[in-house]
Amino acid sequence: MAHYAVRESPPLRGEIPISTSKNAVLPIMCGALLTSEDVRIEKAPELTDVKTLCALLESCGCRVRREGSALILRADALRMPQDEEDVRKMRASVLVLGPLLARLGEARIPLPGGCAIGQRPIDQHLKGMSALGAGVTCEHGGVTLRGHLRGAVIYLDMPSVGATENLIMAATLAEGVTRIENAAKEPEIVDLAAFLSAMGARITGAGTSTIVIEGVKRLHGASWQPIADRVEAGTMACACAITGGELLLRGARAEHLRSLLFKLSEAGVHIKDTPGGLLILGRAKQPFEIRTMVYPGFPTDLQAPMMAVACRTPGTSVFLETIFENRFMHAAELSRLGAHIRVENRVAVVEGVRELTGARVAATDLRAGAALILAGLAAEGETIVTDETGHIDRGYDRIEEKLAAVGGLVQRIEETA
Ligand code: UD1
Repeated sequence: MAHYAVRESPPLRGEIPISTSKNAVLPIMCGALLTSEDVRIEKAPELTDVKTLCALLESCGCRVRREGSALILRADALRMPQDEEDVRKMRASVLVLGPLLARLGEARIPLPGGCAIGQRPIDQHLKGMSALGAGVTCEHGGVTLRGHLRGAVIYLDMPSVGATENLIMAATLAEGVTRIENAAKEPEIVDLAAFLSAMGARITGAGTSTIVIEGVKRLHGASWQPIADRVEAGTMACACAITGGELLLRGARAEHLRSLLFKLSEAGVHIKDTPGGLLILGRAKQPFEIRTMVYPGFPTDLQAPMMAVACRTPGTSVFLETIFENRFMHAAELSRLGAHIRVENRVAVVEGVRELTGARVAATDLRAGAALILAGLAAEGETIVTDETGHIDRGYDRIEEKLAAVGGLVQRIEETA
């Protein structure tokens, strides 16, 4: 179990290499189940979510090996998952449903777990699979899908990222043409579709709200380098906005972070899009309003890091969380550091304060944990961020090393239970 000791830090200066996107790599790993040939994923990040998914894929009969930073997957003996524990650990494990169903004509998983940031049902995944011709049975805490898949028109009630990804994958091997309406438009979906196309899939419209997939008989192996992690990049941009300084986020792409960059500019932070990545200059000076939305709106995953920024920015900032119903758990923890935050249902109002003071706080979910580390950089004295269940390692590749390399006073403390 890792905890983090954070001290008030000088302005951050230097370069942070941005890792490969967790939210892109997880669906791409599941996509590897769609072929019996080798899939090579370059620069796979060292995250516990990636390790958990590797274990789940192995339990589905997929061979997994690391070659340096690349991950090589070969699903030549595909079968139903044998170990259900790995599915429960992580919400993204629901993404094996589409590939298993497409290749085996059957899929069964226990209902998935993940961060406790809301109810997170999977009804849209199931509704879509059912439209493609799968029989769906939910019993004994699990869901079973069975059937031969045929192309269909699917309308998603909300543009769910996971459901869009799962349905694209299922449809690649379905008979005929599938059209997903009201699809999610996140960059990770565009990346997944490009990867599947490199495997021989026929997909158009990824990145728009209508995606069309023409089923093919089989897919072949491919090598892929997934996109840089826009949430990690956004978190580091927020770190700079809290301490001031000058950070080059190597590999970060401005076009994936427009909503955050607009908000940081409104707050007085300077941003330069350079060939090497994004340059973030200076600290936030004015308050801002954030409404989380589906892409290209402001990402819910950056709401907590931006709240850490708001805590030290003069004036009143307002947050409206529209994606998840329980995603302000970090507000209570930030208040322990002296932040002034009022939460009413899905709205949080933050009055910036001149000083935060270090305290012991708990990482209640992945992004909340990162937000507390950022707040600790601007809190007088020492902040201890406890992370009992390893939330931060699920999604950030050595966050303490990356911050320390640019002057952040962050130390990881390994504690034995
Ligand atoms: C993905 C991201 C996560 C991000 C989220 C929203 C991955 C691995 N995770 O999660 O980091 O916070 O997108 O940008 O990519 N919903 C339903 N029924 C469904 C599916 C979703 O009601 O069948 C609801 C959810 O409860 C939630 C909202 O839709 O309120 C968004 O969920 P979704 O877009 O599916 O997020 P994930 O794919 O789980």
